[in-house]
Amino acid sequence: MSEKRQPPCPDRASIDTMDSTATALSLFDLPAGEARAPIAPHVADRPDLPGLSELNWRSLYEELSRDGIAVTPPLLTAEQCAEIVGTFDRPGLFRSTVVMQRYGFGRGTYKYYADLEAVPLVRTLRESLYPPLAWMANQWAAQLNERTFPTALPGLAAECAANGQTRPTPLILRYGEGDYACLHQDVYGDVVFPLQIAVMLNQPGTDFTGGESVFVEQRPRSQSRAIVVRPDRGQGVIFPVRHRPVRGTNGFRRHPVRHGTNAVATGRRNVLGIIFHNAT
Ligand SMILES: [Fe+2]
Repeated sequence: MSEKRQPPCPDRASIDTMDSTATALSLFDLPAGEARAPIAPHVADRPDLPGLSELNWRSLYEELSRDGIAVTPPLLTAEQCAEIVGTFDRPGLFRSTVVMQRYGFGRGTYKYYADLEAVPLVRTLRESLYPPLAWMANQWAAQLNERTFPTALPGLAAECAANGQTRPTPLILRYGEGDYACLHQDVYGDVVFPLQIAVMLNQPGTDFTGGESVFVEQRPRSQSRAIVVRPDRGQGVIFPVRHRPVRGTNGFRRHPVRHGTNAVATGRRNVLGIIFHNAT
């Protein structure tokens, strides 16, 4: 999501003990393109996010690289999903509310949290998910000969701040019947962390129908490919912000990816969007 998106429209873990020196060596000494994947980071449980240590980040990375997206096991309990849904109508929590139909983004409403200290579950989830996603992003960076990223979120936040990107980007989206999100990318400035995650907060088939998550991969000199997923409540979908590497005959090349949401047929669909770079 973005207030100034391109093109227009919206829609288990803590590495608290990760050895940043060792990780940096394994991440940044990769030979370009054909790197042997470094050791997957260990993500420790946190009191409010039990089970994070059991996530298989190598498997998720393989799924992401093969399919273009990866669906995680549940990151949040039903109670935690309800807690986050409950923030939507709490005044004072948000810095910006976007009614999508006003901007041609689709139909529905999303809100950016003003201060993540006020929503500790969202803050913890973002901080915890960043290191394994940075581990993934840095493997893609080696394949595409692109920049690498800090191994912990404060490093990325500092870089964003130096570029004038100081506003938090995590957001909650709400879609009612007939609401949908056009295909888009969530870019908020020059500093762009290449992966993001959307966490489903309702149970498909029970709380709502329709509302599938849609991804479209543009394949150079070929037809585009659509990916449609329907994560269960608590599951996260990891996907590219702008593009992903795909191996071609002459090495890796970039395939642009956009994401959106199919129209909700019945009920209400809430999603937590976690983007790691901040906004200008
Ligand atoms: Fe988005």
